[in-house]
Amino acid sequence: MLVLIGLGLGDPQDITLKGLDFLKRSEKAYLESYTSILSCGKSELEKAYGRQLIEADRDYVEQQCDQMLEEAKTSLISFLVVGDPFGATTHTDLVLRAKQKGIECKVIHNASIMNAVGVCGLQLYNFGETVSIPFWTDNWKPTSFCDKIIRNRKNKLHTLCLLDIKVKEQSEENLVRGRKIYEPPRFMTVSQASKQVLSSLDVSDEATKEMLSPKTLCIGLSRVGTDNQQILVSTLEEIGDCDLGAPLHSLVIVGGVHPLEVEYLQYYSAKGINVEKLADKI
Ligand SMILES: C[S@@+](CC[C@H](N)C(=O)[O-])C[C@H]1O[C@@H](n2cnc3c(N)ncnc32)[C@H](O)[C@@H]1O
Repeated sequence: MLVLIGLGLGDPQDITLKGLDFLKRSEKAYLESYTSILSCGKSELEKAYGRQLIEADRDYVEQQCDQMLEEAKTSLISFLVVGDPFGATTHTDLVLRAKQKGIECKVIHNASIMNAVGVCGLQLYNFGETVSIPFWTDNWKPTSFCDKIIRNRKNKLHTLCLLDIKVKEQSEENLVRGRKIYEPPRFMTVSQASKQVLSSLDVSDEATKEMLSPKTLCIGLSRVGTDNQQILVSTLEEIGDCDLGAPLHSLVIVGGVHPLEVEYLQYYSAKGINVEKLADKI
């Protein structure tokens, strides 16, 4: 059997009792290491759970997971995912591949950034489509996330922006030469994300300017679920100058707000930010 176990967002203690039970009884345990991270590393998790974890990077999960699936035909195999196993689209594919091979699958859920974002005070029911903001390169600058944010705002909905993570990335030269040398990991910050959103705007278009501008209210969140999480309410322009510390970061673009949401957001507002005045009331 293949058991996908969510680890939650904070630290090793956030695993559920059911997850821990399956993990302890597993023949082997893999740790997915590219869609999200815990602030503690693999060795701290191994110490807390009293067992060895095998790191499964993107290449492994997307191209070479057949070995893990073969093992799951005859023994109990755990696949650990930070957050919830379905908080990243990749793992739907893994479950499908297991099902095609007739392997029994079990999912043990946990908190995900997709629901923990509610800690900022916005109601989860009022979020629209989630977007991913990728790191731009010199010759690749996609802006489709902006269209989706604008669509959400037109419908008075908030947008959760998940920010790019680059781990085990090869430079173009190393890729071309087939050298398995990796660049240091990179995690997009709220500041970088807000600047990319503002650079994507078509300023010549009046309708766009009305829906999304430097003065649009947004929320930066970092390390949600840990003891030192940070939440900051500001404008897209001003949050670009704010440092929310170590990864992981997420950005929320605020849509129409309910009076209760306004009241809550005021607790997290940056100095000089008047939520009441900047918010689009429903
Ligand atoms: C693929 S998504 C989430 C995957 C994870 N399985 C989950 O359910 O939360 C990864 C992105 O979510 C956001 N994220 C995840 N955990 C976070 C946290 N604790 N605080 C802030 N943002 C977080 C970051 O933008 C990160 O790049």
